[in-house]
Amino acid sequence: MANLKSNGYTVYFGNSALLSLNTFLLKMNYSRCFILCDENSLQHCLPHVVIACPQLGNADIIEVESGEINKSMETCTNIWEIFLEQKADKHTLLINLGGGVISDLGGFMASVFKRGIPYIHIPTSLLAMADACLGGKNGIDFMGIKNSLGTISKPEAVFVCPPFLNTLEEHQVLNGWVEVFKMALIADKKMWNALSDISQVGDPSAFIFRSLELKNAIVLKDPLDKAQRKVLNFGHSLGHAIEALVIDAGEEILHGSAVCSGMILESHIAMQKKLITVKEYTEIKTRLRNTFGPMKTIPFSKSQLLEKLGQDKKNKAGSFRFSLLKKIGACAYDVEVNEKQISKALEAYHKA
Ligand SMILES: NC(=O)c1ccc[n+]([C@@H]2O[C@H](COP(=O)([O-])OP(=O)(O)OC[C@H]3O[C@@H](n4cnc5c(N)ncnc54)[C@H](O)[C@@H]3O)[C@@H](O)[C@H]2O)c1
Repeated sequence: MANLKSNGYTVYFGNSALLSLNTFLLKMNYSRCFILCDENSLQHCLPHVVIACPQLGNADIIEVESGEINKSMETCTNIWEIFLEQKADKHTLLINLGGGVISDLGGFMASVFKRGIPYIHIPTSLLAMADACLGGKNGIDFMGIKNSLGTISKPEAVFVCPPFLNTLEEHQVLNGWVEVFKMALIADKKMWNALSDISQVGDPSAFIFRSLELKNAIVLKDPLDKAQRKVLNFGHSLGHAIEALVIDAGEEILHGSAVCSGMILESHIAMQKKLITVKEYTEIKTRLRNTFGPMKTIPFSKSQLLEKLGQDKKNKAGSFRFSLLKKIGACAYDVEVNEKQISKALEAYHKA
């Protein structure tokens, strides 16, 4: 496994990623550094980062409480105030050390503050390592809608250090695998086949790297999300709607669980539209259920789901546009989907 060249920045990958970070910081000589983290990345990861990069011993630490609920405007406002009070300037570096919530939030705050200050990601969850750290999409949830405010901007670099996963809780590891499964389903049948039993996977590094490689190839072709990059949203149209409804109801749901349900529902729609076969749908549903647990019912009415879905960024002129599988390992985008097809998928989901 080597480093990856993305759209104007490098993803440093592997056990020596923190040494690369040290070299990078010495070379770049930023005026000052802020490190954004949550209580878990602060406890488990920050000490390793500071040992590898002693100059970060002087960095200002900003800790936010973990959880999707804090990927919010309120958190941004509080932190932008700190930046202003501390006189952060255009040469101040923001280091986002944490899971996907931290990278989405920190990337957004940095890309907007003073029209953009430099930032880097050090992903610490499996989901952030395999997916969220690459591609430059940042954002926060606003008015109950996932990622409704956001930017596409480039980090200066990304440092992926898989040993950070040693302290990640088991259910969060599983949460991260969902996005790896998504990458396999949309782009790599061979990887899908290799994922038949993740309990047998010791070190997930090779799968993380392959996911990043696949995502990078897609992002490089369409960095601004105008065309083929939309395939990365497979499972996310309905997944995001479910996630936002659960959070609105004051409950918690892992991003991966919502996307897993979204992938099953959207695969059913692909089957209805004869994009994939019954056999392929059954294989996907069975594998996802066996790996990520039995399906839970979706405790919302169809109309609630459709209303939430109406806010999806991928819709066009009032009609739903989904990214749907064409087969295991390939995905179409901007496919028109109607309410009836969504209803049928929901019925099948609850019957299974
Ligand atoms: N920008 C993108 O391209 C992209 C892609 C996929 C998902 N996302 C976003 O990512 C978010 C989900 O990311 P996530 O699942 O990483 O959530 P998260 O950031 O909430 O992290 C999950 C949990 O793991 C903890 N944690 C992280 N690293 C740890 C470590 N090394 N040891 C112990 N605990 C650790 C966190 O504190 C948190 O409690 C969602 O908001 C989603 O929208 C963004």
